[in-house]
Amino acid sequence: MVLDEFSLSDRVAVVTGGSRGIGEEIAVAMAEAGADVAPVARSEDALEATAERIEDAGGTAHPRPLDVTDEAAVTAMFEEVEDSLGDVDVLVNNAGVNPFFGNARDLDGETWRHILEVNVTGSFYCAREFGQRVHEREGTGSLINLASVGGVVALPYQAPYTASKHAMVGLTKSLAVEWAPAIRVNALAPGYVKTDFTKGVRENEEIRADLLDTIPLDRFAEPDEVAASAVYLASDAAGYVTGEVHVADGGIAAQ
Ligand SMILES: NC(=O)c1ccc[n+]([C@@H]2O[C@H](COP(=O)([O-])OP(=O)(O)OC[C@H]3O[C@@H](n4cnc5c(N)ncnc54)[C@H](OP(=O)(O)O)[C@@H]3O)[C@@H](O)[C@H]2O)c1
Repeated sequence: MVLDEFSLSDRVAVVTGGSRGIGEEIAVAMAEAGADVAPVARSEDALEATAERIEDAGGTAHPRPLDVTDEAAVTAMFEEVEDSLGDVDVLVNNAGVNPFFGNARDLDGETWRHILEVNVTGSFYCAREFGQRVHEREGTGSLINLASVGGVVALPYQAPYTASKHAMVGLTKSLAVEWAPAIRVNALAPGYVKTDFTKGVRENEEIRADLLDTIPLDRFAEPDEVAASAVYLASDAAGYVTGEVHVADGGIAAQ
């Protein structure tokens, strides 16, 4: 049955940035598909709420506070999750920030470093730990890196974010080649999704109208639409898919 190929039964997934938004929906969707899930992020209360939804969906949850920029904490998190849930089969590098909207001429170094540190370096720390563990146990796995349509085309006035998401695409392609055939590595590149991340631009009437003009499907995405793509990429249904940038952007990049 083709739908069995989408099952994540007996898999263990770590979802960074699992406290809200896209990461929360990915964590819950993976539990609905049969996985046990560790949502990790900095906000403990929000992680507990995600964990409740994972358990309601039939999965075992292991919520764990983590700042992805803390190298030692990333190692400790994997150790704890593997003690609790077993070997990690799926890593979703979803934690990300975008605090800057403006002309790159006005961007300070600290903000530039912060965006690159969370979006790229934090993802690398998590990917490296996952890659080492799968290699040591001679196992297999699936790594999904959240890029963005901004990893494929320019997002005006978001230079550091666009640079960070293009870096995620480069990291994805490198790791896909280096770690094949044991680990499939893919990037997931959403367009504008209805989360806190885009609240500011969606609530500004002028910017909202301008953005909708660029989206052929003429609407913003629901977080669960992105989660469905993540379940696919994690599952055996995508068994021959690696090094891909899976764009779910309502058609923005096609123009
Ligand atoms: N929303 C969109 O339109 C859109 C489009 C394309 C791509 N994306 C990408 O999708 C991912 C999720 O976006 P979202 O819309 O769900 O954003 P969001 O609602 O703002 O959630 C961001 C998540 O990242 C976590 N996070 C931030 N800094 C962290 C750190 N240092 N360590 C650990 N976790 C951290 C946050 O948790 P804590 O604050 O609890 O740590 C939160 O769970 C991001 O990588 C983003 O770039 C989003």
